[in-house]
Amino acid sequence: MTDTRVRFLDLRAQYAAVRTDIRRAVDAVFESQTFVLGPAVAAFEEALGRYLEAPHVIGVASGTDALYLALRACDIGPGDAVLTTPYSFAASATQIARTGARPYFGDIERDSFNLDVAGLRRWVAESCRCEGGRLRAPGGEVVRAIVPVHLFGRPCAITELAAFAADQGLDVVEDAAQAIGARVGGTGRYAGTLGRFGCFSFYPTKNLGGAGDGGCVVARSAADADRVRALARHGAEGGPYRHVALGIASRLDALQAAVLGVKLAHVDAWNAARRRQAERYDRLLDAALGSRASVAAPVRVPGHVFHQYVVRVPERDRVRAALAAAGIETQVYYPIPLHLQPCFAAFGHRPGDRPEAERAAAESLALPIYPELGDDAARAVVAALAAALGRRGA
Ligand SMILES: Cc1ncc(COP(=O)(O)O)c(C=O)c1O
Repeated sequence: MTDTRVRFLDLRAQYAAVRTDIRRAVDAVFESQTFVLGPAVAAFEEALGRYLEAPHVIGVASGTDALYLALRACDIGPGDAVLTTPYSFAASATQIARTGARPYFGDIERDSFNLDVAGLRRWVAESCRCEGGRLRAPGGEVVRAIVPVHLFGRPCAITELAAFAADQGLDVVEDAAQAIGARVGGTGRYAGTLGRFGCFSFYPTKNLGGAGDGGCVVARSAADADRVRALARHGAEGGPYRHVALGIASRLDALQAAVLGVKLAHVDAWNAARRRQAERYDRLLDAALGSRASVAAPVRVPGHVFHQYVVRVPERDRVRAALAAAGIETQVYYPIPLHLQPCFAAFGHRPGDRPEAERAAAESLALPIYPELGDDAARAVVAALAAALGRRGA
């Protein structure tokens, strides 16, 4: 068995840097014996709202629930359609289906891995019809919203999408699970704060990660925020035991809020470190592979927070196996595009339906990236990649 020389992600160095503060914050929660919601959650929601320059933040149990609750708060359900990307973590689309609505998939742009807005506009123009002032999808559902994803920490074309959505009378629910702290070019605002709702995940591996599951919804209006809060608390309104909607139990734990509150103060510095890591990879790849004919490095845009550094390589699975044999851990995000996932088989998609997403699924390889990744480790990754591709090492 090969020894692992470079782990895909190692959170231990991060923890060492914040251990004292986290232990103090966690102890305070234990002393209070308030574990669900309460002052620790309220304080974190407020701090995150200040950070994101967003008026309303609602802590929930996961990024998955954040998406579901935001869609429900838009009154999306059976008979509705929601447009999204075919290239993301499953939750971006499964939560649309969980409301009873049907997800429809656009395709992605090759460079950004994000939803191709021009393509989506074309698809709507060619495949949807306007009936009684409502936009109908090919299956007859009423098109209600778009769920764009800021994949890998790179802001998507949210301004163009929001303009398109406004033209069509659609809501925008941003999936910003991977993009906390990413500023959207030309707006000065953070990803996740431009749609009607923004959804974040605090899964431990995220740029702002808790010590377990967690997430939040960002809302622009007080009424929308109240609706999400009610839905997250069993649909109760006007008192705890009066249920006006079929809600769920989805709350941020006080312990998670305590951990996240400590880490929030570091997120900009960690994101800046990720950007430097990405620049270093760019330089090393350039030096090792010259024209990069065989490896496409991510195309950088301002605001990118590099949740992942994803390259495209030919013969990805062979290259990945060679890296593993050299002790370098990598990941594939994502091997199966959403339109071809078995859980969506009923939609009848076939290989070839979303060619760019399928190409990305075949070529993408995520290299280790985290704020504390050392220079030697990055060099080892690029050397192994160059060797696997049969070129000279870095
Ligand atoms: C793009 C995207 N959307 C949604 C989620 C769901 O978040 P969670 O794992 O907190 O439920 C994730 C994270 O895993 C994600 O990466």
